[in-house]
Amino acid sequence: MTLKMNTLAEYKKVYQESVDHPEAFWSSQAETFSWSKKWDTTLEWDFDGPNISWFKGGKLNITENCLDRHIESRGDQVAILWEPNDPSDQVKSYTYKELLAEVSKTANALKEKGITKGDRVIFYMPMVPELAIGVLACARIGAIHSVVFAGFSAQALADRVDDAQAKMIICSDYNRRGQKMIPVKQVVDDAMDIGCNSIEHVIVHKNTGDKVNWSDDSDYWWHELVDSQSDHCPAEIMDAEDMLFILYTSGSTGKPKGVVHTCGGYMVYTCFSFKNVFQYEPGDVYWCTADIGWITGHSYIVYGPLLAGATTMMFEGVPTFPDAGRFWEICEKHKVNQFYTAPTAIRALMACGDHFVEKYDLSALKVIGSVGEPINEEAWHWYNDKVGKGNAPIVDTWWQTETGGILITPLPGITDTKPTYASYPMPGVQPILVNAEGVELHENDVEGLLCIKFPWPSMIRTTYGDHNRCKNVYFSPFPNRYFTGDGARRDKDGRLRIIGRVDDVINVSGHRIGTAEVENAINEYDQVVESAVVGYPHEIKGQGIFAYIIAKEGVKDVDAFNLGVRTMVTKVIGPIAKPDQILIVSGLPKTRSGKIMRRILRKIASKDTGSLGDISTLLNPEIVEEIKAALS
Ligand code: PRX
Repeated sequence: MTLKMNTLAEYKKVYQESVDHPEAFWSSQAETFSWSKKWDTTLEWDFDGPNISWFKGGKLNITENCLDRHIESRGDQVAILWEPNDPSDQVKSYTYKELLAEVSKTANALKEKGITKGDRVIFYMPMVPELAIGVLACARIGAIHSVVFAGFSAQALADRVDDAQAKMIICSDYNRRGQKMIPVKQVVDDAMDIGCNSIEHVIVHKNTGDKVNWSDDSDYWWHELVDSQSDHCPAEIMDAEDMLFILYTSGSTGKPKGVVHTCGGYMVYTCFSFKNVFQYEPGDVYWCTADIGWITGHSYIVYGPLLAGATTMMFEGVPTFPDAGRFWEICEKHKVNQFYTAPTAIRALMACGDHFVEKYDLSALKVIGSVGEPINEEAWHWYNDKVGKGNAPIVDTWWQTETGGILITPLPGITDTKPTYASYPMPGVQPILVNAEGVELHENDVEGLLCIKFPWPSMIRTTYGDHNRCKNVYFSPFPNRYFTGDGARRDKDGRLRIIGRVDDVINVSGHRIGTAEVENAINEYDQVVESAVVGYPHEIKGQGIFAYIIAKEGVKDVDAFNLGVRTMVTKVIGPIAKPDQILIVSGLPKTRSGKIMRRILRKIASKDTGSLGDISTLLNPEIVEEIKAALS
């Protein structure tokens, strides 16, 4: 429910109450949903395990709360509004009644193909309504969805399918993105050739109708399976702690890990945060520009808004097609009230000139949001002045795949906004800053490592198939705390500013990329001996990818070599992980124990003219000057 607060003082009072009595706070939130059986205990937790249970013993189905619950009060209200890639194509919309019928038909089709509770289903699709429908259909029958962003390569898709041991892939024939057509079914075919042995069926949604290769053994058209089904499907009753979905995300080591979210806590938190952060009111049109392949799309295109009974918009296209005014044209056309996007899009559109935004009537906007990476001061002001026109507060929302929902953000009209500050924690959320030894820093005007010291309902429960990894990454660095991997600063008034990752994760255009993953991909290129990848400041993307590479023999054609590296990364991960800059080097700075000194490489790539620190203890200190000279 939306909390009753109008001022900073009221926020502080509600916040204190939520921290003093967390169980009472969260059970009063949970009571606003429809449960088949009420929970026995609100919270059981132990960060050492970690073992976290919210609303244990409670039984529910999240789709009954997203759909059935709204039928009586707003069955004819639009639930999903869909804007196509090409503005001259038809807008589509589904009312809550229609969406329930489509989800039920799709759920029945999944059942017909043998999908039952607990099975994993992978989605590899563009931003079409069928993606949201398919995800909800899984939740309807208790199947676990795992959406893979459709820009990942066949290899990356196969890796995720194999890790999840999924039974089914649901894809489209082709994706439209601006003037490009992307052959996604072909990527699925390629993934099936590499791995995917657990897959029994591939369901293909006809998006463009262009020709695809077909396997009579495993491929089925969506419309042939779904259209003839009954539009009634009873919801599978789930335990609050049953898995709802797996979403793969990158870390500082190894392959991407499957972050697991569960039904009850995720439901309570995404709805609660959606209502309070966006101050959604009945009749509003809410638009989040993210892709459902990322957590933002899960929590704030599909689940949060539908749980709240909102009208949520899905956009198939890109911000610059047909031109850089597309976002604002859509805001005017649909009278968008809440708009949520990423700093990288803001910076890219800002660079295209003000006339694109000034042409359109954006007066319906009440709240504008930012997510995924730090927003720099210039972009913040442009967003505030040109888009929000000073009337729509910016919510700079900090959160992660692992947190399931927004944890730190201004609350519009309640707490103030300060450029580049995500500000205050949501009620019920207890962030702290610690020093490198894990000692909590209580004072204000201080910088430290961002941890959360108490559970919140939508927090990660495990990493799929490897609970130890979850423990090691998030709970072992500082005992009894969840470690975010981010550094942050607290100002003198207690507002938090997120500085960025302190681990080997880089944030490229709001996409999380592990440096180790990119290095492994580069090392697969047969001309490469060794590589080291670091992030560096990039004007549009926030961070760019810089690769230092030791090549096998004297490289004669640098352009051909670089192309070979980029092609390999595209093949192993996808185009989003392609290095922006490549430097061929004869060695990498290493400690005597053989560890690459990334700190030095980061400084050089960032053209940081400050001191590189003591390099005399390196195994090969001379390489530092050589690299600096090669770069200049
Ligand atoms: O470094 C933080 C950054 O994005 C990381 C989480 O990435 P991901 O799991 O892909 O989720 C992104 C969307 C929720 C964080 O560890 N990040 C996210 N939001 C912000 C941010 N950095 C600064 N400011 C933000 N508002």
